[in-house]
Amino acid sequence: MKYKAPRGTRDILPGEVERWQQLETRFRQYCTLYGFSEIRTPIFEHTELFLRSVGEDTDIVSKEMYSFQDRSKRQLTLRPEGTAATVRAYLENNLSGQPQPSKLYYQGPMFRYDRPQAGRYRQFHQFGLELFGAAGAAADAEIIALSHDFIRSLKIKEVNLELNSVGCPDCRPAYRDSLLSYLEPLAEEVCPDCRRRFAVNPLRVLDCKDEKCRTLAAGAPVLEHFLCQPCAEHFNQLRRLLDRLAIPFTVNPRLVRGLDYYTRTALEFVCPDLGSIAGGGRYDYLVEDCGGPPTPAVGVAFGVERLLLAADEAALQQEAVPPVFIATAGENLEEEALALAAQLRSRGIAAETELMGRTLKGQMKQCGRKGYDLVLILGQKELSQDLVALRDMRTGEQKELPRKQVLDTVEQLRQAVETSAR
Ligand code: HAM
Repeated sequence: MKYKAPRGTRDILPGEVERWQQLETRFRQYCTLYGFSEIRTPIFEHTELFLRSVGEDTDIVSKEMYSFQDRSKRQLTLRPEGTAATVRAYLENNLSGQPQPSKLYYQGPMFRYDRPQAGRYRQFHQFGLELFGAAGAAADAEIIALSHDFIRSLKIKEVNLELNSVGCPDCRPAYRDSLLSYLEPLAEEVCPDCRRRFAVNPLRVLDCKDEKCRTLAAGAPVLEHFLCQPCAEHFNQLRRLLDRLAIPFTVNPRLVRGLDYYTRTALEFVCPDLGSIAGGGRYDYLVEDCGGPPTPAVGVAFGVERLLLAADEAALQQEAVPPVFIATAGENLEEEALALAAQLRSRGIAAETELMGRTLKGQMKQCGRKGYDLVLILGQKELSQDLVALRDMRTGEQKELPRKQVLDTVEQLRQAVETSAR
């Protein structure tokens, strides 16, 4: 085999794609239930957008972006996440001029030059929610409630909602100073990455995965003690609302997130084996930083591959109703088969015909292999008497029907199967 998919990418094949489709439908249902509308933005954007929003010193921007120059020497980047592009689209299309809040959702591929492992890819997929224009904790609660309901519907075992407040530009500098005073004497003990973080963003030391750094971070000052009064009130109000909605969570004082735009709420849904299956938070200054009017905002994104790994098998199963197969016994019956398939399809019944020139025996064997349950058999002699055979593969029963009854009979049988599948 000469070509392989690039490292960190994968094909989603028939047999697996059905779970993706189920999950996408489920996500859409919850978005509709909560009044979110879909937005679709380009797969690539100007590199500058991500530098400004995600932050130049983050891992995503400094190590993980797929950036390139196009033929007109524009610097472009395959989107590593969806929030920045949604903010850009919100401003460019003047959605801010419409009645607020704007409640948007998106889904699609994202690209990060990450080290591939289970549930981590270089092309991966996100479902995202972004809510613009509402500053109150009720908006954060709405994002969390939708996420919680959606995740619960997938019957994921052992998922924990972690919550923190990362403060705002008013209160964070004092915390940063205090954290640095604690960390600087430990410079020789932390990992080289963290030593570099001292200068650019010491808060990231708090969620370093290195064992030694974690132990040291455990003794660090706690951000919550430094929150200004409005940030503290926002965090308290959010916790009250989640209690009221009976959404369980734990406060993780070391949750700081790997993107620079967050203020106040930071959140992650975490599974023990997979890490974070969804992450997000509030970003009250990003719209302004991208050239818009002051606009509070909050959002979340789910890692689709991780949701699929974590979801219970049964939670995404739906009995797929197989197509009706139209088999031909003998030569020159393709035309008849295609015409009958067209009639079935025009009634919304999936149908397939034989395209490989197999014998009738071969066709029946193929139907068994593919799990088709209804087979219509066209034979020259029967057709001359205006008859078609219908075989129910589940019972092995076969009967002959007058040609004009075929459509109604198949339709009734299909409805019965669909009702029992529901
Ligand atoms: P993020 O935490 O970078 O946040 O990504 C969100 C989710 O995407 C993660 O929790 C994880 O499940 C999934 N994910 C990230 N990287 C990979 C990867 N390489 N392979 C597979 N899955 C991955 C954001 O992207 C923010 N834009 C979320 C947000 C929306 N904040 C506010 N609004």
